[in-house]
Amino acid sequence: MKNTPWLVIGAGAIGLFWACKLEKLGNKVHIVYRSESPGKKITLESLTDEEGHQQVSVSKHKIKSFTAESLTGQYDKVLICTKSFDLKNAFTQIARCITPDAHIACLCNGIGAQEELQSILLDTQTLWAGITSEGVLKIEADHIKHTGLGDTYFGEWRPSDPAKSFPIESLTVTNIRQRMIEKLAVNAVINPITAIFNIHNGDLLNDEYKPLISATLSELASVLTHPQFSYAQESQHLTSDNLKNRVNTIAQLTRLNRSSMHEDVRLQRQTENSFISGFLLDNSPIDLPVQRLLYEGVAFAEQREEIKKKLLSIA
Ligand code: PAF
Repeated sequence: MKNTPWLVIGAGAIGLFWACKLEKLGNKVHIVYRSESPGKKITLESLTDEEGHQQVSVSKHKIKSFTAESLTGQYDKVLICTKSFDLKNAFTQIARCITPDAHIACLCNGIGAQEELQSILLDTQTLWAGITSEGVLKIEADHIKHTGLGDTYFGEWRPSDPAKSFPIESLTVTNIRQRMIEKLAVNAVINPITAIFNIHNGDLLNDEYKPLISATLSELASVLTHPQFSYAQESQHLTSDNLKNRVNTIAQLTRLNRSSMHEDVRLQRQTENSFISGFLLDNSPIDLPVQRLLYEGVAFAEQREEIKKKLLSIA
């Protein structure tokens, strides 16, 4: 791979974090921001070292920032860290600066946006879908805090033969769709429930939410293990017990955090509801009454109180 700069799109917590990480790995990095410029240097505060031991360290990273309009170079490695509903639009704004043989990676929640992006790429460009469980908080426009060590993986959205390898080889996996559906299943429980009830992730473990969570998990397991589900091959192992372990572990590990959807609803921002619950509702071969209520509880603020009562009365 040529020693050309990486282009990171999106200066939210994950975009800034990856810009710093790529720079740490010895790459030149340019970043495209929309609202607030991160300036020329980004401060990364880490609360754990690479092995997960508690240790505070602060590092500064030199990164050039641009608006989409002011970008002029040609890039062959791009990492898009936007919300799923912004993915295609964010790429369109800088597409003129991307080479025909580029590797284009994206890190966003849910499923659906990747295919939207794929539809506007050239056949010679490679789309890498990614997922991450890193915990990062944005403190200021140029300052982030790495609060929880996580994993990040990328896989070819449309697998090729022979398989390609991601510009950062150690992060390449061949089963990205399986990992994405596993993450989506966890998000389909934690995100809407925390958003609708205005609670932190750890509160999901309280007794009052047990019947709701158990109903959500068994409904999810019925669709994910259904032979006619569009991702059936990748989701057969997601039984109710398997999902319960995943949700409990993540709710426990992120107990003091607000989920991204909770934060979006609280701040009256657009949510990723259509790419999480919406994806399941659109692709399920069976009726999903609980997931539909969760979808509506997030989508329609005026119905939220009524929907909360219905959700809590699920036995
Ligand atoms: O979207 C989120 O907030 C995260 O993916 C998760 C796992 C729910 C933790 O907060």
